[in-house]
Amino acid sequence: MTSAYTGFGSADTAVEVYPPQEDSLLLIDAMIETGLVPGARVADLCTGSGVIAMAAATAGASQVTAFDICPSAVRQAREAALTAGTRMDVHRGSWARAVEFAPFDLVVANPPYVPQAPEGDACSIPATAGPSRAWDAGADGRMVLDPLCAAAPLLLDEGGTMLVVQSECSNVMSTLRALRAQGMHAEVVAQQLIPFGPVLSARAPWLMQSGLLPRGSRQERIVVVRADAP
Ligand SMILES: C[S@@+](CC[C@H](N)C(=O)[O-])C[C@H]1O[C@@H](n2cnc3c(N)ncnc32)[C@H](O)[C@@H]1O
Repeated sequence: MTSAYTGFGSADTAVEVYPPQEDSLLLIDAMIETGLVPGARVADLCTGSGVIAMAAATAGASQVTAFDICPSAVRQAREAALTAGTRMDVHRGSWARAVEFAPFDLVVANPPYVPQAPEGDACSIPATAGPSRAWDAGADGRMVLDPLCAAAPLLLDEGGTMLVVQSECSNVMSTLRALRAQGMHAEVVAQQLIPFGPVLSARAPWLMQSGLLPRGSRQERIVVVRADAP
């Protein structure tokens, strides 16, 4: 990991706003590596602390538009932009609202993608892990990923690019297939093995039992999928 994007998610807001983690940093690195950011109209769909949107702004995006359903996240992202003197529009609401502001040259997203056990496990996850709305994504982890793939052509300009980070637990092949089915070129451009965090630690037995994680796993593979519009 080569990123130096730190300092977001102070102790007092960590419970309400997802503190940037390995997935955030993997996506930032992949985004910068594309070389597409300078001059681009960028949308960050699930912005949280705003760390990815800020990285895009700092790397020379011509316009950065961010979305989050969480009021605390919106506040934190706006404050980060203000403090840095960076121009960024942060909207409170679903990522799906981005269609109203499209087209974009580059769309980035670190959506909720962790499969959710039917019986629930909130009490076994420490509050310091952040809010469950940041990771809970239905039984198969694809509650946001599927509609996001479906909306990609509506969000992107001709030749535009989408970068999405997700876990192996939420079926990377489904993401690739859904994007390719719409005529986009899609591939995994970055991946990393990371130790289980508090959420995966709590869910690992259920995930393995359900076949969503290989039995005996001690680490989780996270990937960045890149999709290019024709
Ligand atoms: C995994 S966090 C990512 C935060 C930040 N982008 C990062 O990488 O550190 C996911 C974020 O998505 C937000 N979120 C969840 N569902 C959403 C939705 N339907 N529309 C927009 N944001 C959503 C959560 O509030 C949370 O801030």
